[in-house]
Amino acid sequence: MGIKLLARILISVAGVAFAASSSLIKREVVTAFSSEEQTAIVEKHNEYRRKVSPTASNMAELKWDADLTKKAQDLADGCVFEHSITYGIGQNLYVSTGERDVIAPVTSWHDEVKNYTYEDNKCDEGAICGHYTQVIWASTTAVGCGIKHCPSLIIPHVGEWNGWMFVCNYKPR
Ligand SMILES: *[C@@H]1O[C@H](CO)[C@@H](O)[C@H](O)[C@H]1NC(C)=O
Repeated sequence: MGIKLLARILISVAGVAFAASSSLIKREVVTAFSSEEQTAIVEKHNEYRRKVSPTASNMAELKWDADLTKKAQDLADGCVFEHSITYGIGQNLYVSTGERDVIAPVTSWHDEVKNYTYEDNKCDEGAICGHYTQVIWASTTAVGCGIKHCPSLIIPHVGEWNGWMFVCNYKPR
């Protein structure tokens, strides 16, 4: 495992500990996204894409994609917090032990913007921006996401969590 991936996981886990201690946990075991949730996820991505400054003239509106969704749901169903690599497809992962929240992962990826400079495509030394750049990648046209409640979510090199695994796939990456 690369240092960057490990760092990402550790950061995600730090977020998890915070979420777990700061919220009243009401767990609903619902898998996959309803069509309303799919729409909300796409809208959130497009809202963030419209906010990119300076505006990219070639910024495409994302559309929900069934094939990307199936791949994302399959990965989430496996309950192992690890990327699956498919040529031409980008992927963001998120783990949470809190409530089932379909927007928080997208917001968390977007928040990497604070360490990113669009003009010269630069990320602060030691910061992570790859989830953000995937969300706002101008030529990306499609997104599909999956979610799974995993009583035993395996986080390689870290341990097992009782929580939600959230996956979004993007193309072209
Ligand atoms: C990322 O940005 C935040 C807010 O500007 C800053 O406090 C933090 O030090 C930055 N992280 C790195 C690694 O530069």
